[in-house]
Amino acid sequence: MRSVMSNARELMLWGLDWVDSRFPLTKMWKEQASEYYAPKNFNFWYFFGSLALVVLVNQLLTGIWLTMNYKPSAQDAFASVEYIMRDVDWGWLIRYMHSTGASMFFVVVYLHMFRGLLYGSYRKPRELVWIFGVLIFLVLMGEAFMGYLLPWGQMSYWGAQVIISLFGAVPVVGEALSQLIRGDFVVSDATLNRFFALHVIAMPLVLLGLVMAHLMALHEVGSNNPDGIEIHDNEDENGIPLDGIAMHPYYTIKDIFGVVVFLAVAAVIIFFAPEFGGYFLEHANFQPADSLQTPVHIAPVWYFTPFYAILRAIPDKLGGVIGMGGAVMILALLPWLDRSKVRSIRYKGPVFKIALTLFVISFLGLGYLGMNPPSPTYTLIARVLSVIYFLFFLAMPIYSRLDSTKPVPDRLT
Ligand code: HEM
Repeated sequence: MRSVMSNARELMLWGLDWVDSRFPLTKMWKEQASEYYAPKNFNFWYFFGSLALVVLVNQLLTGIWLTMNYKPSAQDAFASVEYIMRDVDWGWLIRYMHSTGASMFFVVVYLHMFRGLLYGSYRKPRELVWIFGVLIFLVLMGEAFMGYLLPWGQMSYWGAQVIISLFGAVPVVGEALSQLIRGDFVVSDATLNRFFALHVIAMPLVLLGLVMAHLMALHEVGSNNPDGIEIHDNEDENGIPLDGIAMHPYYTIKDIFGVVVFLAVAAVIIFFAPEFGGYFLEHANFQPADSLQTPVHIAPVWYFTPFYAILRAIPDKLGGVIGMGGAVMILALLPWLDRSKVRSIRYKGPVFKIALTLFVISFLGLGYLGMNPPSPTYTLIARVLSVIYFLFFLAMPIYSRLDSTKPVPDRLT
């Protein structure tokens, strides 16, 4: 028995050696995992990067299976989704894993981005990690928007109609641009076809490329941590950070715990509340698209509503579009807007804490308002919250410089 085991081991080592002399397998594993030293004080907020990867893989796999039975034509799309739900073996599960997965993706990514705000993870030298992140966020929004058209329900149709017509507000080329996106004068079969192509292949490829770039940039500069201290400033004689632990096995094990808890929560939602009361799949989308009947109230899915509320809060159409786009793009400037002497909220003063709290309130408030039909009072509140949202960023160079800070320790706490 023993000799069989040692023979198998020798064979494996020989195989590994064979591969390693032709491809940097062990080298990559060491650099990226077993000898990648991460700060030892990662907390709850550090679960969401690996969870985003898990959701990404879920979306890709369930997406491939959905594509096997989905029909991208205005004639058949709605019925093919119903067919997946009722007749395809386990089709209902695959579809709910994908539709719930989309919402979970945004939950996870919003929390992941919030961690960046808490600990100043966007600051030098991690500007590119952050900028790749913002690009991922943009592509993710495009991907989700195009995916929502595919079931060809009432909200798919009218949501796309509203959003694509916004491009018409761009001076001179606006109308031509909307037509280019739609491939027609109205949302039609042509629109569905191009959105399908973009949703199932073009955008996922870009997304994968950006996620790789995001992680390569991160592993080049090393992870930040809740203290916002550079662990590489304190290394032992072998160049290993004193406050670092190897990603594998320490953080791979920790992340598996996070994944298990996350999957349990996701399973409860998928099995017991897949539409999540109309927040993940809107009620109107269970009716087939009808180009002659506008739904009473058109609202995007929850993850778009903060930006949708900013769009509606600005009276001018072009102004609204600029406001909505600006609300996302301004994130990319954060590394240069934050002038504080320290990175982490742990050592920042009260002004930053108040500003961040107001920002969170404005974001959640806008999200709520964007879900509901506008009224004069709601519009007024949306305007106030939009101003707070932008002030958080635009006033940051001033308040982050003036705010008091606490002394930062040399080593992790
Ligand atoms: C598909 C979406 C995404 C995936 C799969 C992803 C994945 C990851 C992973 C695995 C990490 C390392 C583990 C961790 O620090 O949690 C990470 C770190 C980071 N990500 Fe993302 N990410 C995504 C989106 C974003 C977005 C949208 C942003 C910001 C706009 C962002 C900003 C960051 C930053 C700043 C770090 C470094 C954090 C630190 O070291 O403190 N990521 N990401």
